[in-house]
Amino acid sequence: MKTIAFFDTKPYDRESFSRLADENLNIRFFENKLNADTVSMAACCDGVCAFVNDSIDKTVIDKLEEYGVGVVALRCAGYNNVDLKHANGKIRILRVPAYSPYAVAEHTMGLILTLNRKLHRSYIRTRDHNFSLEGLTGFDLKDKTVGIIGTGKIGCVFADICKGFGMNILGFDPYPNENFKGEYVDLDTLLASSDIISLHCPLTKKNTHLINRETIEKMKKGVYIINTSRGRLVSTEALIEGIKTGKVGAAGLDVYEEETTLFFEDYSEEVLLDDKLSTLISMPNVIVTSHQAFLTREALDAIAKTTLQNLTDYFSGKELINEVVVNR
Ligand code: NAI
Repeated sequence: MKTIAFFDTKPYDRESFSRLADENLNIRFFENKLNADTVSMAACCDGVCAFVNDSIDKTVIDKLEEYGVGVVALRCAGYNNVDLKHANGKIRILRVPAYSPYAVAEHTMGLILTLNRKLHRSYIRTRDHNFSLEGLTGFDLKDKTVGIIGTGKIGCVFADICKGFGMNILGFDPYPNENFKGEYVDLDTLLASSDIISLHCPLTKKNTHLINRETIEKMKKGVYIINTSRGRLVSTEALIEGIKTGKVGAAGLDVYEEETTLFFEDYSEEVLLDDKLSTLISMPNVIVTSHQAFLTREALDAIAKTTLQNLTDYFSGKELINEVVVNR
C-alpha cells in the first residue's frame, strides 16, 4: 500500500479520486496548497499529487527528496509550477497531458459569446426588471477572424468550434499541427489581422508576457483577448492600459498572473487587496473566471484515471509515458 499526499483538495477532486482509486493507494487529502510551508505534510508519504497553483520549487523538491518521496503526480497538463531542472535526478514528475481539450475549448467560446453578446450584463439587468437593450449590441462571429496562438490539442478543438461559427481562422505555432483547420501565419500577421485572439500555448520563460504593450500595439482596435492558458502569458498592466484606451475591446480571462493565492478559494467576505484584479473585475467588458475551464465531469474523471495510472505505473516500475523531462 502506497500513501499519497494530495494537495489543494477540493470536493470534486475527492469525489473522483476516491471513486476511481484502487486498494493499493491510500490517498491523504489535504486542503493546503503545496509550498515550502506545507511540504512537511508529505513526510511519511510515498508520493505527492499536486495541481496548477502548488509550488514545486527548489525548497519543496529538496524536502520531498529528504522525506524519500520519489514522485510528484501533477493532476494537470501544464508544469510551469515545477522547477524541472532541480527535480531532474531527484524526483520523477508525471502529468496528465490530455484529459478533455473540449472542456477548455468550449469554455473559451463561452467567454467569447458572453463578452460579445453581453450575457453577463443582461443576466443582471433582467433580474433587476430592467428590460432595456441599450448597450447590449454585439457582432456576428461569422466572417470575423480569430487568431489562435498555440495549435495543440486545445487550440485545434477551439479552431473546430470557431469553424462551426463560420469564422476565418489564423494560427501561430512554432510546431504546426496537421489537425489544425486554419491558416498558419507569423505572429505579427496574426496580431494585426485578428478580431479575437485566443491563447492556447504553454507558459515558458521565453513567452512570459507574450501579450504586452508592444504586441497589443500591433493588434486591431477593439480586439478581444482571451486567455484560458496561463496567466503570465499576458502582462496585466499592459492589458488594463489597452482596455482603458479602447485598443482592447474586451478580455476573457480564465487565468491571471497573480492567481496562485486567490483562485479556487472563497474570499467573498474579504476586501480584495489585488488592485489589478479589482480593476479588471470592475470593467464591464472583462470577464474573469477562476481557472475553471477544465471543470467538466468528463475532464475530472479523465484527470483522476490518468493520474492514478501514472502513480500505479511508477510504483510498479513500469515505463512512465507521462513523465515530464527536462530539455524537451
Ligand atoms: P498542447 O501541448 O497539446 O499544445 C500546446 C501548443 O502550443 C503546441 O502545439 C506547442 O507547439 C505550442 N506552443 C508552444 N510555445 C508556443 C508559443 N510561444 N507560441 C505559440 N505556440 C506555442 O497543449 P494543450 O493540451 O492544447 O494545452 C494548452 C495549454 O492550455 C496548456 O499548456 C495549459 O497552460 C492550458 N490549460 C488550461 C486549462 C484551464 O483550465 N484553463 C486546462 C488545461 C490546459
